[in-house]
Amino acid sequence: MLSNKIEKAINKQINHEFTNAYTYLAMSAWFDNQNLSGFAHWMRLQREDELSHAAKLVEFVVDRGGRVELESIGKPKGSYNSPKEAIAAALKLEQTTTALVNNLFGLAAEEKDYATQSRLQWFVDEQVEEEKSVSEILAKLEMAGDSKGTLLMLDHQLAKRGKS
Ligand code: FEO
Repeated sequence: MLSNKIEKAINKQINHEFTNAYTYLAMSAWFDNQNLSGFAHWMRLQREDELSHAAKLVEFVVDRGGRVELESIGKPKGSYNSPKEAIAAALKLEQTTTALVNNLFGLAAEEKDYATQSRLQWFVDEQVEEEKSVSEILAKLEMAGDSKGTLLMLDHQLAKRGKS
């Protein structure tokens, strides 16, 4: 059985994961508008990842006999000044997600909720990957500077991302 405190906190995290999905969807549309279909593809898969994160938490709450309470999702930012600005925003989003997952893990530890800690360990590990992959793209964009050729090469590379 989940405590009210943990149930509320996981429901908040579910909302955050859906917010991430919505943000990545908006980013993918923006990249498509810029004719950067590789970046758009990468963002669409990222959106799918976020939906699966939310689904894992929903399943966990239900499995523990808790109540899932879905909240509304805010309007995501729809445009950026550059690919670099969009990717920097994605990195910030992932860093915020990491902080929230860590806080949630800390709360589960405080409450001696071992099952929640065990489930959240997957999210802790996943965030290492999430931050790493976005940081790599940002670093490449920084290296590319104003080179359109390098941007297109990176776009081509991101188009090859497969489902995780
Ligand atoms: Fe669900 Fe990208 O973290």
